[in-house]
Amino acid sequence: MKIRKAVIPAAGYGTRMLPLTKAQPKEMLPVVHKPVIQYVVEEAYYSGIREILIITGRHKRAIEDHFDRSDLPKKDKYTEELDRILDEVDIFFVRQREQKGLGDAVRYAEAFVDDEPFALLLGDNITIPNCTKELVECFVKLRSPVLSVEELPLEKLSLHGVIKGRMFKKGIYLVEDIVEKPKPREAPSNLCVLGRYILTPKIFDHLKAIDPGYGGEYQLTDAIRRMLSSSEVYAHLYTGKRYDIGNKLDWLKANVELALKDEEIGDDFRSWLEQFSMKTLKFKGDDGLQ
Ligand code: G1P
Repeated sequence: MKIRKAVIPAAGYGTRMLPLTKAQPKEMLPVVHKPVIQYVVEEAYYSGIREILIITGRHKRAIEDHFDRSDLPKKDKYTEELDRILDEVDIFFVRQREQKGLGDAVRYAEAFVDDEPFALLLGDNITIPNCTKELVECFVKLRSPVLSVEELPLEKLSLHGVIKGRMFKKGIYLVEDIVEKPKPREAPSNLCVLGRYILTPKIFDHLKAIDPGYGGEYQLTDAIRRMLSSSEVYAHLYTGKRYDIGNKLDWLKANVELALKDEEIGDDFRSWLEQFSMKTLKFKGDDGLQ
């Protein structure tokens, strides 16, 4: 069974990124050459997906503009790559009318999804290598909903959905329970949901049945939890790199790490960074650079 469709929720306020996100969507924050959401659309495209629904909301118009075909007379290679992708992919938009949580946002995708399994990629996360591609491969084998998880330290558990899983085979768990943002000591494990899912249309029945949960919002995690009694749900252990652009430290790390690997500016950036770190270590904080 092929996964042809992806849903990208990009409606959240981005309060942890204020004031950067006061007048621009967090999904449009730059990471080296491209805004975050472009990485996410490319991740979907390189996983074989050809129809994408982006769920936006108030103050998110820049996202729609970004996916117009560019009318610039001269284009750089990143814009050209995006235009090439846009020739093959249909991108649709829908607006979440009120901020009522991720679970509420995903409900807006029901008509788009129709009767097919679909990928769900949170619009403020970057994964390298392509986590959705790995998930699609898992789904083809397991034929049940599957979500990506990563092992995180205790202090980060309360920022995530956390699963209780039984090892099914290496790197795959059968999900037995899932809790949204538990207190660290109450978390069922250290396996955290990282914002990449393959779901079936059944999720919409569960999204309609849940009450507001953590933070008074409708939580996707609660709908997945409800689904566990009627369907097998698997978790795939992702061992690549995930950057959560919803927080400033990860955003800075994403820029530094991806700039170091960049074929255009990587070498120059590395030399500057080496020089910079040597000076800061020597002068204990006074970097001496302009
Ligand atoms: C959302 C989900 C959470 C998941 C996280 C990954 O939370 O609700 O289960 O672990 O994304 O980034 P948010 O970061 O939007 O608060």
